Amino acid sequence: MGKIEGIRIENYGSLKSVKLGKLFSYQAGEALGNMTTIIGPSGTGKSTVADAFGFLADCLDKGVEEACDMNYRGGFDRLASQNSSAPIKFELYYRETSNSRPITYELEIDLDNKDRPYVKLERLRMRQKTQAKGYPLTFLYLAGGKGYAYEGKESGETDAGVLEGAGRRVEVNLADKRKLGISTYGTMQEYTRIVDFLDFLKSWYLCYFSPDKARQEQFFAPHPHLNRTGSNINNVAHYMYREDRAGFDRVLADIQKKLKGIKEITPSPMDDKRIVLRFLEEGFSEPFYSPRMSDGTLKLFAYYLLLNEHTPRQLVFIEEPENGLYHQYLADLAIELRKGVGTGFKKQVFVTTHSPFFVNALEPKDVWVLEKGEDGFSQVKRASDYDYVKSMVDEGVSLGDLWFSQYFG
Ligand SMILES: Nc1ncnc2c1ncn2[C@@H]1O[C@H](COP(=O)(O)OP(=O)(O)OP(=O)(O)O)[C@@H](O)[C@H]1O
Ligand SMILES: [Mg+2]
Repeated sequence: MGKIEGIRIENYGSLKSVKLGKLFSYQAGEALGNMTTIIGPSGTGKSTVADAFGFLADCLDKGVEEACDMNYRGGFDRLASQNSSAPIKFELYYRETSNSRPITYELEIDLDNKDRPYVKLERLRMRQKTQAKGYPLTFLYLAGGKGYAYEGKESGETDAGVLEGAGRRVEVNLADKRKLGISTYGTMQEYTRIVDFLDFLKSWYLCYFSPDKARQEQFFAPHPHLNRTGSNINNVAHYMYREDRAGFDRVLADIQKKLKGIKEITPSPMDDKRIVLRFLEEGFSEPFYSPRMSDGTLKLFAYYLLLNEHTPRQLVFIEEPENGLYHQYLADLAIELRKGVGTGFKKQVFVTTHSPFFVNALEPKDVWVLEKGEDGFSQVKRASDYDYVKSMVDEGVSLGDLWFSQYFG
């Protein structure tokens, strides 16, 4: 469980300084909802926002040096904003449930004296139970791998170094300054809050679905979750078919609302341990197999599998879902995604899109517009903060139509 109510990104490519939603350092902001959509002309930084989420997940998994080199990022020098010598910085404002206190996670990555990326600062903070307002207590603090962590649910210390609560304080000195402290301390039961936060970050899913990858030969290995490109889609379908037939039937029913000719989808393991999907279509006696299915069919199938996951990933980021999909499906897809994530703390979705059809199904407060400022760096504004947009949507005009007609963005 959990979702982020806000994020600040600094010195990450074109994102020299952007913030979305509510933060510890920006309490006036309105918290992000369960579905956030990012729009804007080409080159304004949409994919960079998606990649910033991917970068955080990679830092957790591989350490910051490798994360800077992965995914065509080209190393710290290329990745950090040009003309800036400041560290790459992130601030996440996270809440586990509606009645839990928000947690702030800060991460700063810089180059050491041998020009190697390292974690300059990492900090977790949470307000005390007894305080309705006021300064939160730090329960993990690491500067260059050195600092402290607090066990338990409540303890921490103030900025002045005053200890509060009964939890044990442990001195920390990480062996590797390129690794995140949360990846170590989040595996130890005593550090309850760090464990929960790590679980949340680990369940992020960045979707770069590629129909070509989905068509690739796949070997039998049932799996509950789609990987980044969808190259294990047959195994995910098989897992759901086996473990959660009702969920699989819902996926089929969702697909049939759009692709009416599809009668049946069946995962079929073969004797030689390969696995394919069989699609039975109206008018044909023989099935078609997944390598022969259209881009849009595979993509819709992947999104519906994602929406019906048995153990849902808590944060999902989808880039340009419109690619390869018939435009009439897009408003529906946006509605289904909104419905799928609901209003609770189970799932949160971020989407980038160029499609007004998709945006037509959204509320102004859930849409963020990226533009390039005069200095060449990205600026971001909530659609609801543009003059007239909110009132026109309240009067019944669709948001995507306003965008298309250049009322904003
Ligand atoms: N280190 C950097 N510092 C500043 N700007 C950078 C840096 N690296 C890349 N950029 C800029 O950021 C842009 C990246 O934009 P991005 O790919 O996020 O755009 P997008 O909004 O996803 O566009 P599209 O709609 O075409 O997919 C590049 O085009 C480049 O102008
Ligand atoms: Mg892009």
